[in-house]
Amino acid sequence: MKYVLPLMAMLVPATAMAWPWSTDMMNQPSIKPQETDHGVIHQFPARSVPVTGIPTKVANREEAKGLSNPIAVDEHSLKIGRRLFRIYCAACHGLDGKASSPVSPKIGAIDLTMDYVQKDLTPGWIWGTITFGSAIMPAYGKPGEGGGSNDLSVEERWHVVNYVRNALVKEPAATMAGTQ
Ligand code: HEC
Repeated sequence: MKYVLPLMAMLVPATAMAWPWSTDMMNQPSIKPQETDHGVIHQFPARSVPVTGIPTKVANREEAKGLSNPIAVDEHSLKIGRRLFRIYCAACHGLDGKASSPVSPKIGAIDLTMDYVQKDLTPGWIWGTITFGSAIMPAYGKPGEGGGSNDLSVEERWHVVNYVRNALVKEPAATMAGTQ
């Protein structure tokens, strides 16, 4: 009699087909990750996005040139862009962007407040330059490919573009001496 109760307890999941090793719930019509249809992996449905944010399907600066900026230019974005610029770009381009850092002349970092950067280059090209780097400039968006440190996310790079194009020229020289 003392074995009946545990035995019955063990049989309950059996009637529900819910043993830990049961795969009944797994085998269903939905398509599983990496599952192929006659050898062809299913494409992601249109409009699916990676969980981390905006998809980027560009392989180089040339392809990035025409990208439209998905991040609105507002106070929030400019604030993030400014902070990142001062961390990642100022060492070479100067806190005011005018190639004023001690390193600027040594490596030929350009003045980012020039019309060339402010008007001629597209926002997509600047984003692409940050993403893939340039002749001397490091890349900030290429994970695991040597030169790239991948320190900036897709969104962060757009915030920097927003700042460079909308606020950098207005940066008062006084900020040069301070830390903020
Ligand atoms: C290690 C130094 C260095 C850092 C850090 C750096 N740059 Fe540059 N950048 C350069 C140099 C040098 C050039 C000019 C030569 C070249 O294109 O590589 C340049 C060129 C550029 C150009 C012009 C590209 C073109 O097509 O002519 C832009 C825009 C730019 N940098 C933006 C940035 C931004 C934004 C950051 C921060 C995310 C940044 N740079 C960080 C060194 C740097």
